[in-house]
Order: sequence, then structure tokens, then C-alpha cells
Amino acid sequence: VTGLNTAAQAAGKVYFGTAVDNGDLGNSQYTSEEKNTADFGQVTPANSMKWDAIEASRNRFTYTQGDVIANLAKTNGQKLRCHNLVWHSQLPSWVSSGNFDNATLISIMKNHITTEVTHYKGQCYAWDVVNEAINDDGSGTLRSDPFHNTIGPAYLPIAFATAHAADPNAKLYYNDYNIETAGVKSTAAQNIVKMIKAYGAHIDGVGLQSHFVSGSTPSTATQVANMNAFTALGVDVAITELDIRVKTPETSAELTQQATDYSNTIKACKQVTRCVGVTLWDWNDKNSWVPGTFPGYGAATPWDTNFQKKTQVYNAILNAW
Ligand code: XIL
Repeated sequence: VTGLNTAAQAAGKVYFGTAVDNGDLGNSQYTSEEKNTADFGQVTPANSMKWDAIEASRNRFTYTQGDVIANLAKTNGQKLRCHNLVWHSQLPSWVSSGNFDNATLISIMKNHITTEVTHYKGQCYAWDVVNEAINDDGSGTLRSDPFHNTIGPAYLPIAFATAHAADPNAKLYYNDYNIETAGVKSTAAQNIVKMIKAYGAHIDGVGLQSHFVSGSTPSTATQVANMNAFTALGVDVAITELDIRVKTPETSAELTQQATDYSNTIKACKQVTRCVGVTLWDWNDKNSWVPGTFPGYGAATPWDTNFQKKTQVYNAILNAW
């Protein structure tokens, strides 16, 4: 066993992978590790397949940056998780402030999905069809966003049915955060799966983003029980955006804790047959979104800001498989 992906596949998983952001590809230290399939057998574009990147103005589709990642995956022999089609964030203002009526917004959403999914047809192992639809207020209700507000909950099954028609072989996921342990939000995500199926639409999996805080990550058993609640509905699960942030500057005790935390999550995926793989939301601390998004936190990934392995953390992941 020579790397994180090799080890994951030896454990029966489809892949271990990482997010890749177009702006990071200019650095040769970055690219030489990013294409190392012993560690990364799968990539997810961090930004370049989102609505604002693909259809910044109505019915004008731009695939340049998305294609860079898709072609990189093809060249390097990596699976591609395509991310994402319908999300309240990184949504251009022509959609979010358009005040479209029901029929018009449905046609806009369908056109976006059909056109983008058709462009990448055959290249995506999976699509995150709808991202982060559930509120964070503990209510378990659907977020107030243009799609829910205008179309109602039916926007979810409509989105999944449309994606399935455009690429029947891509696995279709609902993807969200704070659904990694049992609770109101996880139950709401399970209800989304049930609703999509009840409408007769197609869904293959649920993405557990897993943006964790070191020292307060769920135990292996807690994560396994939660994954089992999803797979009992007849869907796969995947850990789609794993990072485990620590307070900076990090101490060696915190990195030891972080290594344990990473190990616990990998072990959970290993134990659940239908957990198909794990994706890091970036593999190195230099390019991670964490310091820019969570002030006072960082060091969230297995490689440091100089692209060097944090041996303890890396080995914890390797050995957990
Ligand atoms: C993040 C990217 O990493 C950042 O570069 C960008 O500025 C904001 O989005 N959940 C998701 C991802 O599903 O798309 C987000 O990615 C992180 C949270």
C-alpha cells in the first residue's frame, strides 16, 4: 500500500480524492502531488463547475475552467465528481434577483442542468445535483432561496429528474454539511431522499461534506450509524469535502488530536460498504478555504502550507484504511 487512494481502493472503496481549484494549478509543487494517483484517484472542481462559473449570464455557457479540471482528471486517470448544479450560493444575480415566476424559473433551472450535464456527459462519476438545501436553524426546513421560494420543494425532484435524463450514467447526489451525525438536519436530508424517490425521480447518493472542527468531530460509531440511516434508504454515501480545522497557530497536541479525528472518519467510511469514497476539501493548508472562511482556524488538511506531508496526520489516514 503506497498512498491514500491505493489504500482506500484496497479497502474496497471507489476512490480517495481531493478538491482542485483552477487558480492553484500554476504551482508545480502543487500539480506534481495533485496528479499523484497513489494518493488521489478522484478530483472535484472547487469552484469551476458552479453556476456563476458556467452560466454567468442567461443561456451563455462558459466551460473553459471546468474543462481544465475535467481534462486534468482524464489525463491523469482520476475520477471526477462534478460539483454542483443547484445551490443558493455562487449563484449569479440574474438568477438570484431575477424575480422569475414559477414556470420561468423551472425552465431556467432545467436549461442550466440539461446544458451543463450534457456538456460533461460521460465524464462525471457523480454530480452534486443540489447543494445545501436545508436550513441551519435547527428546524429541518428547506432554506429560503430562489428555487425553494419560487418553485417549492418540488425543485429538488425536478432537478434530479432533469440531471438523470441528461446523463443516465452519472451518480446523482444530494450534498450538505452538518448532516454527519443523527439529528434534525440529517433527518431532513433523509426526507429529501425519500421525497425525490416519492416523486419517481432518480437519486444515487448523499454527500456528507464533513467540514469538521478538531476535537469535536463525531466518533466512528456515530458517523457509521448516521451513514447507515442513509444507506437504509437505498442510496450510497460519500464523504465529499473533508477537512478538520484547528485553532491557529496549531500545537503538536492539536495535530495529534487532528490525526485521531481524521482516522475516526476514515474508519467510519471503511466500515460502511455503501460509503464509496472520501474527498479532501483541499489536500494542503496553503490552498485550503479554511483560513479565509473561519478566522482563527487553519491547518485543516494533511499537507502543510509548504506542500509537505504532516506525517502524523497523513499516516493516520493511511493506516485507518
Ligand atoms: C468553497 C470553495 O472552496 C471556495 O474557494 C469558495 O470561495 C467558496 O466555496 N461547501 C461546498 C463547496 O459545497 O462548494 C464550498 O467550496 C465549501 C462549502
